[in-house]
Amino acid sequence: MRTYALTPLECTSVQAILSAVLNEQSPVDRAIALEFKTERMPETAQLHIIDAVGDMLRRLNLLAFLADVPLAQAGIAVQSLICQWHLLHNRQLPNLRVADQCDQKVFETRRELARQQPALWDGCPEWLEDLGQQQLGLQWPAERAALTQAAKRYIRVNTLKCNETQLQHRLQQEHIDTRAVEGVPGALEVTSNGSLFRTQAFKDGWFEQQDAGSQLIAPFLGVEPGMRVIDACAGAGGKTLHLAALMAGKGRLLAMDVEQWKLDNLRLRARRAGAHNIEPRLIESSKTIKRLKESADRLLLDVPCSGLGVVKRNPDTKWRDTAERLPVLLELQADILRRYSKMVKIGGQLVYATCSLLPAENQDQVARFINECDGQFTLLREQSISPAQTGFDGFYMALLQRN
Ligand SMILES: C[S@@+](CC[C@H](N)C(=O)[O-])C[C@H]1O[C@@H](n2cnc3c(N)ncnc32)[C@H](O)[C@@H]1O
Repeated sequence: MRTYALTPLECTSVQAILSAVLNEQSPVDRAIALEFKTERMPETAQLHIIDAVGDMLRRLNLLAFLADVPLAQAGIAVQSLICQWHLLHNRQLPNLRVADQCDQKVFETRRELARQQPALWDGCPEWLEDLGQQQLGLQWPAERAALTQAAKRYIRVNTLKCNETQLQHRLQQEHIDTRAVEGVPGALEVTSNGSLFRTQAFKDGWFEQQDAGSQLIAPFLGVEPGMRVIDACAGAGGKTLHLAALMAGKGRLLAMDVEQWKLDNLRLRARRAGAHNIEPRLIESSKTIKRLKESADRLLLDVPCSGLGVVKRNPDTKWRDTAERLPVLLELQADILRRYSKMVKIGGQLVYATCSLLPAENQDQVARFINECDGQFTLLREQSISPAQTGFDGFYMALLQRN
């Protein structure tokens, strides 16, 4: 988290965004976009606001505790939350209206109480704390703390258009500094402020924003130019575009999803990236899958999941989701693995991936599938990306071979 005091105007915008998220259930990205559309402001102010909103949402329960309001009523105490946030980070209070809500002594007392409750201090809701403890045991506190940190900005070099050095040089000319990420070829960490999406390099399709951990998934599938590849849960195509680059644009890459609007988005991104071998295809029924039986050399199943590994990027989800969603997801993941795996040719390979840290969604799913598939698949390798150990988002990937 960078340290600066919010200006009164920035504070007003933070308040408007938090009110929309907490009172109107607006997704945080949409609330931010709407605020920036209505209120014109310099890029640095926008970055301050995005940082502040993210940080406040990551530790919403802590701020509510400090403000002495029930979490369920956080939405009607937004000014007070902003005030506590300033005190927590030792920043000058931006304006009198917010300062009215603060009492330094009460704050200090409650901060000491909060420090004694590690889950609260790390901004973790009770349902998630129970789930984390139960699923990850001793590993959980370190992961929980890592998931409270601000997410770093990473981009992926689009090797269909340029290489790492060329991209770094071009971005530098557009006043964006980057550095290579150890262990993740093609990933750059963005170390300066400034909007990436306004750069000409972005408009020309030289890079995509993508977490460094996420960039490890497409290479795990071992695709080669000329192969027939299916990305069956492609969404808006973050990993599809990476696969296309690894295939050097040669071969056939089918990008499938159950949501047409995501595939429409993917089409636009593919055009910008110069990835011409991608064919988006909507999954309309189970027939769409059956027709592709034994047709793929490689299959990526980046299945819908709890998203626990990326919660620092989507902190509002912590306050909306509950543990009750998990069994439904587990059922869907098992169903996708069972039915979609039939699209792999004999001798072909598939990667099952999630952005979750929970063994129930990861190792347990794969182990059960292997057990039940009558020897049709063998697990070749699996890898977990731990936010605590890497600073990246959290992911899991398993490479399976069809026998
Ligand atoms: C984790 S997201 C995929 C993210 C994407 N691969 C990327 O890298 O940007 C999971 C996707 O699965 C899709 N999905 C949900 N149910 C599905 C199903 N039964 N078959 C295929 N895709 C499904 C969702 O719409 C969502 O886009």
